[in-house]
Amino acid sequence: MKVELAELIEAARRARANSYSPYSGFAVGAAVETGSGQIFTGTNIENLSFGLTICAERVAVAAAIVQGERDFRVLTLVADSAEPIVPCGACRQVLAEFNPALRIVSVNLSGQTCDESLQDLLPSPTRGILKNARS
Ligand code: THU
Repeated sequence: MKVELAELIEAARRARANSYSPYSGFAVGAAVETGSGQIFTGTNIENLSFGLTICAERVAVAAAIVQGERDFRVLTLVADSAEPIVPCGACRQVLAEFNPALRIVSVNLSGQTCDESLQDLLPSPTRGILKNARS
């Protein structure tokens, strides 16, 4: 990777400070590094309806795509959780659209880290979807 992992984690930590999460009180920061060495960040944005809440990961992905960047290499996550968080099912599917083997590095505020591949979290992202539709 072109960007230092510590820098990418720090970017997620900074994004987390802007979380809009009055309903859960659970602030999440995300940062993605793209192939060109750029960093895009996201934070969770909650809504009174609950169902319209957007996770930090999808906000980061959207921010990158607006700038023409979709070659995602590494995603970092920061949250104040007992164990480092992993993306929810919906975010896994969205992330897999662009890189099914994305590296995901997640840290909590006690300094615990997990470092894994999206492949292990969502092994068959395209199975049974559209590609297999009868024409
Ligand atoms: N959340 C994220 O932003 N990313 C995750 O990986 C886990 C969950 C947010 C959604 C909601 O605002 C809050 O955390 C509690 O689920």
